[in-house]
Amino acid sequence: MLIVDFFHNRFLWNCNLEDAMKLSKRVTDTPPYLFHLIDEKRKAAQERGMDVISLGIGDPDMPTPDFVLDLMNEEMRKPANHQYPSYKGEHDFCENVAKWFQRRFGAQLDPQHEIMATIGAKDAVSHLPFVFIDPGDTALVTDPGYPVYEAAIGFAGGAPVRIPLEEQRGFLPDLSSIPDHVASSAKFIFVNYPNNPTAAVADQSFFENLVDFSKKHDLVILADNAYSEVYFEPADRPISIMQIPGAKDISIEMHSFSKTFNMTGWRIGFIVGSKALIDAALTLKSNFDSGVFMAIQRAAARALGHPDAPLFNESRTQLFKLRREIISSALKEMGFRFKLPRASYYFWVHIPENYSSSVAFCADLLENQGLIVTPGIGYGPSGEAYFRISMTADDSKIKQAMERLKYFVKGL
Ligand SMILES: Cc1ncc(COP(=O)(O)O)c(C=O)c1O
Repeated sequence: MLIVDFFHNRFLWNCNLEDAMKLSKRVTDTPPYLFHLIDEKRKAAQERGMDVISLGIGDPDMPTPDFVLDLMNEEMRKPANHQYPSYKGEHDFCENVAKWFQRRFGAQLDPQHEIMATIGAKDAVSHLPFVFIDPGDTALVTDPGYPVYEAAIGFAGGAPVRIPLEEQRGFLPDLSSIPDHVASSAKFIFVNYPNNPTAAVADQSFFENLVDFSKKHDLVILADNAYSEVYFEPADRPISIMQIPGAKDISIEMHSFSKTFNMTGWRIGFIVGSKALIDAALTLKSNFDSGVFMAIQRAAARALGHPDAPLFNESRTQLFKLRREIISSALKEMGFRFKLPRASYYFWVHIPENYSSSVAFCADLLENQGLIVTPGIGYGPSGEAYFRISMTADDSKIKQAMERLKYFVKGL
C-alpha cells in the first residue's frame, strides 16, 4: 500500500504488511493518522539532537483549571463512580449539559433522550458514519477538514465526496455548487464551525441554508462544534445548529470538553440531536464501548455550571488573543498571506510563493529550523496551498518559533 510521507514530499512503499498479517483493506487502504506522523517526526528530530518547537498539534499547553481538578478529586473518591457507567451517559451529566445548552445557546434539549456522553468528540466523529453508511454509500465532507471525517467514512465502507472550502467564500461550502444527484444520493454532510483548520466561523444564515438544503436532499447533518468556546470577539461567538428551527430532527451536533477546559487527555464530550438519531447512535455505541468513567462525566458536567467557568473562559480568551497578536504581527512582517483567526487555535496561512507543495515547505522548515507546522494537504487537496500554525505553545515558545520562521523565510 502507498502512504504519503508528509515530511518528505514523496510516496513510500509501506511493505507488505497486509500479506503477512491478513490485515483488512479498510486498514491497509487508510493512511496513518496525520498527527501521529507529525509526532513521529518530532520524536525523530529530537532524537537527532534537534531543539524542536511544535506548533503542529491543537493540544492546549495549559493545564486543566484547578476548579475542574477539585471536582474530579471529589468525584473519583465516590465508590459509586467506579463501576461501569450507563451507555448513554449519566442522568446528571445529561441534565447539566441540557442546562448549559439552554444558557449558552438558548436551545432546549430533553436530557433523557436528546443527549449522549462520548469519549471526546473524536469518538462521535469516528463512529457516527457507521450509523448511516452502508458499503458503497457516499457522504459529503468539507475540504479542507479534520482528517478523521474522511477516514471514518472510509472505515464504514463509504466514499467521501469533497466540497471545497474557498477563501473568497469565508471558507463556507458553496452548497449551490453541489449537483442535485450528488447531494441526494449522499447519506450525510459533515460540517465544522468554528473550523479546523481554517479558523472560520459560520453564522445563523449559513446554518439556516444548510438545514433547508439538507431537508431538500434528505441529508443528515453532522455538525462538529468542538471549538464552540474558543473564539476571540463577542460578535464571533459560535452558535449551535440546534438554534435553527427544524434542525434537531435531521442533525447531530458534536461537543467536546477538550478545548473548553484544557481537558484533551480526559476524553469526554457529548452529542445532541433528536431522540431517533441519538437512539440510533446508542445502538452502535453500546456495542462498541462502555462509556466514560463516571467521575469524569460528573466532574465535567459540574464544571459547565461552576462559578469559575466564565472567568476561566475569559482569561483563556485573553491569553489566545495575545498569542494571536504575536503571530499575526510576525506573519505580516514576513509578508505571509492569511486571515486573522476568528475562532479555534489555528492560523491558516498561504505557503510562500517559492513552494508549490505544503509538504515540501513544512519539511524544509523542520529540517532547517526545527519548527513543526502542519502541511495543508493533510486536511485535503484544497489545503495544498496552505500550512497551519497552532497557537498551543507558551508566548516565549511562540516568539522563538516566529524568529525561526523569519530566519527561514529570509533565506528563501
Ligand atoms: C474539528 C475537530 N473535531 C473533533 C476533535 C476531537 O476532539 P476531542 O478531543 O473531543 O476528541 C478535534 C481535535 O482536534 C477537532 O479539531
